[in-house]
Amino acid sequence: MFKQLPNDQLEMVDILLNGEKIQVPLGTNVAAMTLSQGQRYTRTTSLSGSKRAPFCMMGVCYECLMVIDGIANQRSCVTYVKQGMQIETQQGVGSLPEGAHHE
Ligand code: FES
Repeated sequence: MFKQLPNDQLEMVDILLNGEKIQVPLGTNVAAMTLSQGQRYTRTTSLSGSKRAPFCMMGVCYECLMVIDGIANQRSCVTYVKQGMQIETQQGVGSLPEGAHHE
């Protein structure tokens, strides 16, 4: 569906996407990178569990939420890949940092 254009000038970094180690260009938009890896959604809803995918790609719709470096509810379309980043598909509301709670 999505594919990174070839460019041998790009610096590659190692990241984990749902536990799988992959190499991607530094600074790639996380939502675009996730789609280019063949994953068709970034989160599931908390009520029905339906799969949701990036829509606006500009930080407005919140459909692209993912767990990034252990922090849930990160907008993947306005987050950029860096070395060692750990990115996971978010299930429902995601977990909160220790000590925090859902209201
Ligand atoms: S795709 Fe709309 S906020 Fe990320």
